[in-house]
Amino acid sequence: MGIEATLSPPLASALDPGPAAELDDLAAELRREFGAPVGLLDPRPGVWLHCEGRDPSAFPPAADLAGLPPRVTVRRGREGSGSCWLILPAAGAPGDLLAAVGFAEAGDPARPDDAPTLGPSCPEPALRAWGQAVADRLRAEADSRLAVGDSRRAAREPSVADRLIRRLRVSDAPERFQAMATSAVRHALGVEAVAWIPGGHREPVAVAGGVGTLAPEDYRGLMPDPGAGSIWICNRVGHPLPPAVRRIAVAGADADAPAGWLAAVNTLDGRPFVAEVELLQTVANLVATQRANARLYGDLKDLLFGVIRSLTAAIDAKDPYTSGHSERVARIAVRIGEELGLSTNERGDLYLMGLLHDVGKIGIEDGVLKKPGKLSPEEYRQIQSHVRIGVHILSDLKKLQHLLPGVAHHHEHLDGTGYPAGLAGEQIPLPARILAVADAYDAMSSSRPYRRRMTPAQIEEVFRKGAGVQWDPKVVQAAFACQAELERIRQKGLGESLRQAVGDALGRS
Ligand SMILES: [Fe+2]
Repeated sequence: MGIEATLSPPLASALDPGPAAELDDLAAELRREFGAPVGLLDPRPGVWLHCEGRDPSAFPPAADLAGLPPRVTVRRGREGSGSCWLILPAAGAPGDLLAAVGFAEAGDPARPDDAPTLGPSCPEPALRAWGQAVADRLRAEADSRLAVGDSRRAAREPSVADRLIRRLRVSDAPERFQAMATSAVRHALGVEAVAWIPGGHREPVAVAGGVGTLAPEDYRGLMPDPGAGSIWICNRVGHPLPPAVRRIAVAGADADAPAGWLAAVNTLDGRPFVAEVELLQTVANLVATQRANARLYGDLKDLLFGVIRSLTAAIDAKDPYTSGHSERVARIAVRIGEELGLSTNERGDLYLMGLLHDVGKIGIEDGVLKKPGKLSPEEYRQIQSHVRIGVHILSDLKKLQHLLPGVAHHHEHLDGTGYPAGLAGEQIPLPARILAVADAYDAMSSSRPYRRRMTPAQIEEVFRKGAGVQWDPKVVQAAFACQAELERIRQKGLGESLRQAVGDALGRS
């Protein structure tokens, strides 16, 4: 039985402002729109449902706003606070949901220096007009959504657990999922606060809503003895609790070794807790599962990051004269890819391909790899084998399989005279054609023991002659279009780009 069924119909309709995810989205949208703290309020019981940008205690008392008509108004903050609040009907959710947006009072010379940071200072008529425009837009959006029919929508409405499962991402920070889960359960149960209390004391307590003056860490003190079992309900029958806590229901994520507990505090309508633990238990398990998976994901990401860094370091160590070449090729390829309109994912792949394109050089004899003079045919064959060796090294890393085309074919020529497969034209994968240009650009821009770096004019001349023969003219053209930036791009440090690219690689199925 779903826990929502335990609410009486009038209470459920009064307290359920719609899916918690919609509230999250609405609050975030308003916060972006106004650049100011935003609170969403159900004015009938006078309850803050969601606060963005400031602690709920920084917003006007919810009871003061209860019963306000659903129209755009401006309310002064407390005297001397230097703040004012734009109140607008947030018709993006059912009922009379109101949004309060905090602004600095325009032209108030008495505004104290330590006044809380709010939105921009804005004259009242402008605030009103701004709020009206946003409220009109929200109403239009809500009307178009409701056009599908309330009853059909209700029939399709997934349960809280279903909605959370759909939004569960192992790549998300656990804090993000915990905030989503506590907020969703709070709205579904109609309680003053829901807290996720992790088993480890080094992790912070996540709270949606609030009870009296309780700080997040105070919720640990409300917890039952962990040995008492994984479910605990207290309706204040013989249990000493802080005065503000009238009722509490707690479910542990795991009966043997709790990863944490989910606690619901004080029903808004005063009903006793009975069956709420069913939803609390389910969501507590979801939160614990996401947290455990997020940790494994983080470990895997660190491991892959370390492997790629180690491989690129090994390539650099193998040939000090070309040290940093892989990293520079990666950056240049990404910039050319941007010029060609590649997507973020495709550019992330290009970055990793650039880092790893010459990984096979690890398997080439030093005497051949570093030989400054002319290579014999046998030595040249050895050098060419770095492509095959690179593919072999990477073929065991399942999460990097999509990089193989770039690594395998970055020495193919457009006219089919390159190696290892003698591919021509568009038979050569686009990433490989881009890497070929980036590779040549960095090689010509760098000094070697046997020659000085070439000037930009000389490089341009080589590319002009080779376009359509060795290199794809479209790619050469793209490199010319951003040539002024390429030298600067070569100088950048290795940083978040690798972490991002590794995260994208792991996110693939
Ligand atoms: Fe190469």
